[in-house]
Amino acid sequence: MRIGILGAGGMADALGTQWARAGHEVMVSGRDPGRSAAQAARMTAGAGAEVRAGSFAEAAGSGEVVVVAVREEGLLDTLQAAGAALRGKALIDVTNANPMEYDLTRSHARLIGDVTGGHVVKAFNLCHVDVWRMTPPVFDGRPLAVPLCGDDPGALAAARTLVAGLGCTPVDGGGLGRAALLEATAAFMIGLWFGGADAQAVLPPLASSGTHEPA
Ligand SMILES: NC(=O)c1ccc[n+]([C@@H]2O[C@H](COP(=O)([O-])OP(=O)(O)OC[C@H]3O[C@@H](n4cnc5c(N)ncnc54)[C@H](OP(=O)(O)O)[C@@H]3O)[C@@H](O)[C@H]2O)c1
Repeated sequence: MRIGILGAGGMADALGTQWARAGHEVMVSGRDPGRSAAQAARMTAGAGAEVRAGSFAEAAGSGEVVVVAVREEGLLDTLQAAGAALRGKALIDVTNANPMEYDLTRSHARLIGDVTGGHVVKAFNLCHVDVWRMTPPVFDGRPLAVPLCGDDPGALAAARTLVAGLGCTPVDGGGLGRAALLEATAAFMIGLWFGGADAQAVLPPLASSGTHEPA
């Protein structure tokens, strides 16, 4: 799959290197061509497969699927620079808001969909960048599960392929309307981690989580 990444920072590096290693064609992008090219060269060396660098518009145009991996403060400018190529495309939103200034009324995923007209899937926002560098992320013998929130079947299929490329297991998290819950979960969990708590310990195992009707 051709993957355009809006961003050339830590998340672009971690995810893009793994996807390139898994055989996907990856292009990263940032504001500074020299910095993006240097990032692509490091990823090429790490993946053993070519990773290209381009402008935001070039990455948006080149990708069958486009991953939004920029900081919140640059989100709108980046989408604007990426331009019309995002319309109708599968967009994977990995972004998080600053957990200390989190605003429950604003969803990045919804904003990205509204601004671009793309088919957004929220994913990969729950774990620290170092987890996405693991090959594969497996804890206590269980592959990491990655919840996906989106409405478009084609975009969800692309997201599942990207999850599989990391050796993780996709989990249906519901429609795009639930992406805000994924964003709020990240803000809450990051707050716990920053405070030194074991965030994973706040939830019981499935067998002890009460009685549920089968899905
Ligand atoms: N780091 C994590 O552990 C983690 C985990 C899950 C989700 N996320 C989310 O993933 C997204 C990317 O995180 P990251 O760790 O990859 O960040 P990063 O390493 O700081 O990279 C940020 C990227 O955003 C771009 N950007 C565009 N406009 C910007 C602006 N006005 N100010 C700052 N940066 C701007 C940067 O472009 P240049 O290349 O031109 O500088 C850079 O490519 C964020 O939304 C973050 O919340 C991060």
